[in-house]
Amino acid sequence: MSPQPALDTAPLSGLPHWERAPADLPDAIRQIKAALRARIAASGRTVEEVFAVVERLIEAEVDEITAARARGEGIWPVIDYSDIAAGTVSDEARALLRRRGCLVVRGHFEREQALGWDRDIVEYVESNNFFDTYRGPGDDFFGSVGSKPEIYPIYWSPAQMQARQSDRMARVQTFLNSMWKHESEGVRWFDPSRDSLYPDRIRRRPPGADSAGLGTHLDPGTLDLWMTEAYQRAFRHLFDGSVERYDPWDAAYRTDGPQYPGTTMCSAFRTFQGWTALSDMRHDQGVLHTVPIPAAMAYLMLRPLLADVPDDDMCGVTVNQVFPADHKWHSPLLDALSGIPDVRAGDSVWWHCDMIHSVASVADQQGWGNVMYIPAAPWCPRNERYAASVREAFRTGSSPSDFPEEHYERTWPNRFQPHELNDIGRRGLGLSP
Ligand SMILES: [Fe+2]
Repeated sequence: MSPQPALDTAPLSGLPHWERAPADLPDAIRQIKAALRARIAASGRTVEEVFAVVERLIEAEVDEITAARARGEGIWPVIDYSDIAAGTVSDEARALLRRRGCLVVRGHFEREQALGWDRDIVEYVESNNFFDTYRGPGDDFFGSVGSKPEIYPIYWSPAQMQARQSDRMARVQTFLNSMWKHESEGVRWFDPSRDSLYPDRIRRRPPGADSAGLGTHLDPGTLDLWMTEAYQRAFRHLFDGSVERYDPWDAAYRTDGPQYPGTTMCSAFRTFQGWTALSDMRHDQGVLHTVPIPAAMAYLMLRPLLADVPDDDMCGVTVNQVFPADHKWHSPLLDALSGIPDVRAGDSVWWHCDMIHSVASVADQQGWGNVMYIPAAPWCPRNERYAASVREAFRTGSSPSDFPEEHYERTWPNRFQPHELNDIGRRGLGLSP
């Protein structure tokens, strides 16, 4: 197995591609849609026939989910951390995780540990006068939630780093990464047992908060998903008429490509997005929802090729804005939108990187809603590249380059220090092999 993706020897997609965001977006959209339609037609099937296959598959999943919900069953798979640690997760539990693409890990951390981290974060920001110096939201996405700091642009607290480099986090990330096919076509696409310690923020939403939430969207990219060569290869079975062979768990070609810049961009390849709960949260208090169908990506990627979508429109997807999933184009999918169950501090929540998700609105929230965002971002060429800028941000206490340039922690003396890194932390930052 080669450690590097051998993209030059991979089958060429033969489509027009733009490795940087095209200057004339409508023209590029027209070009790529015509080329994709022609490519699918060359398989002997029409776009409509291919899409009908996807529609049937998705409808069956949506029906199963809505029926289960009507029976009062939980939709989100739940696995105990102790089973992951002991290697005793059943085949049935793994199959359900693969089917739903999302998971709650119960007791990922001891509840007291998580509550302690929450207190430590408060002490960390207060000791540095964060609330006096807070300048308002630094981006226009989470910024739409409100003007109070619910999303703290804080990356280098001891609590966050302790969680990121903990044995418990590494075990769960390895388990989740192993859901993916990481070796194929003669390439080892990523190392499932090594994470790249992707630094992200904290959310602390206080009791009594009103929040409009976040609409249904997805985070893996925008127009680059159709327009870059790497993604055209990753989604090759959607684009060449062999849609039955599309596997949402196949990492091939996903771990080295470029991404168009944007306010919500993620330079890393994440197998799962995730967060760790730092407070107890009830399922009806403005929590995370997903459309728990990993293969829904096939629907999202092919829907713009149907005849009812204008030639220069990708169902509303454009650069510098989050990829929307909405009732105009994706209505059948949204019936499956399902929220997490009640969680306790120390539980963690995970969802496949391509999946549609949202945060429900809440009025007069009961209890806190506190999380640390920590995904699973395994070591691969793309994440190794990004790790170089993460190391620099860590060294200087800066905001990582995927995030707004706020840099609150540069002068904070009690941020996590390099000598506090353990083996997992050093490997995650690329400081040791
Ligand atoms: Fe998101």
